Amino acid sequence: MKALEEIRLNKWKSISVRKLIYPLFVREGRGVIEEISSMPGVYRFSPDTLISEVANLEKLGLEYLLIFGIPENKDWQGSSALKNSNVVSESVRLVKKCFPQIKVITDICLCAYTSHGHCGVIRDGAREIDSQATLGAISEMALLHAQVGADYVAPSAMANTQVQAIRRTLDSQGYQYTKIMGYSAKFASNFYGPFRDVADSAPRFGNRHGYQLNYSDSKAALSKVEQDIKEGADIVMVKPALGYLDIVKKVKSEFSYPLAVYNVSGEYAMVKAGAGVGSWDEKEMVFEIISSIKRAGADFIITYHAKDIAGWLRK
Ligand code: PBG
Repeated sequence: MKALEEIRLNKWKSISVRKLIYPLFVREGRGVIEEISSMPGVYRFSPDTLISEVANLEKLGLEYLLIFGIPENKDWQGSSALKNSNVVSESVRLVKKCFPQIKVITDICLCAYTSHGHCGVIRDGAREIDSQATLGAISEMALLHAQVGADYVAPSAMANTQVQAIRRTLDSQGYQYTKIMGYSAKFASNFYGPFRDVADSAPRFGNRHGYQLNYSDSKAALSKVEQDIKEGADIVMVKPALGYLDIVKKVKSEFSYPLAVYNVSGEYAMVKAGAGVGSWDEKEMVFEIISSIKRAGADFIITYHAKDIAGWLRK
């Protein structure tokens, strides 16, 4: 028998920093580093401070970043998402110039840019998403990001055939090497609460149940994944993570396709809240969670814990 203190699980063995994707939020301005109260340890950066942060992340061995833009001005159309020069295009250009080996993924969705907070285009006076106009807008947004050097674009608007529309636009403009990570199985989840705080992107009326998936419906999730693969996604995604590991496992075994799983803002906030009141050790909890997501079949894990994990694995 081994003494109890000699028994150590080899529990971190399977976690590779190179398969973690770290979400970052950029807003306009200079010298900005704003902590987000509902997500301790997560910040809004301006493009200049973002670069100093990416220098740290690169030293820690992180290779994939997922960039979200938070514009100063929102309007009904979400027009700042399509401006040639906006906070995301500036940031992507800078990151790729300073750190060409870092893989940049950009989120493609209108919810942070529109004054109504919905993910697609709504015609004046209407109360529903205009699918055709939405596909046009997000394809244009994806092209803009490809032009400034994004390695992947990640459509999260949940517009039907969004991957196909973006793929066609990119191909026809000479960006056939820009890849697509589809938010394929994105459920209408309460776990996105803190994110909407960060991006100020909560819908001002109604909800997202019309375009995000019903969490009781695993069939719809699988058919969304299948559709994204057919439309040309390079990586598919399940989101959120913890309540949805059955879906992760099914997707992996059914399609054996590169799969990212998004450990979302609410999941992060719960870990922080519990650690804050001493209910658990944060590091131990994070490794249990990440190992579980990996075990279910994730190839890539999108997580706000990525920077901490990289730091812990160094030691
Ligand atoms: C944009 C988007 C959301 C998230 C990622 N992209 C919010 C939403 O759909 O309301 C959530 C990410 C998180 O909670 O960490 N549509």
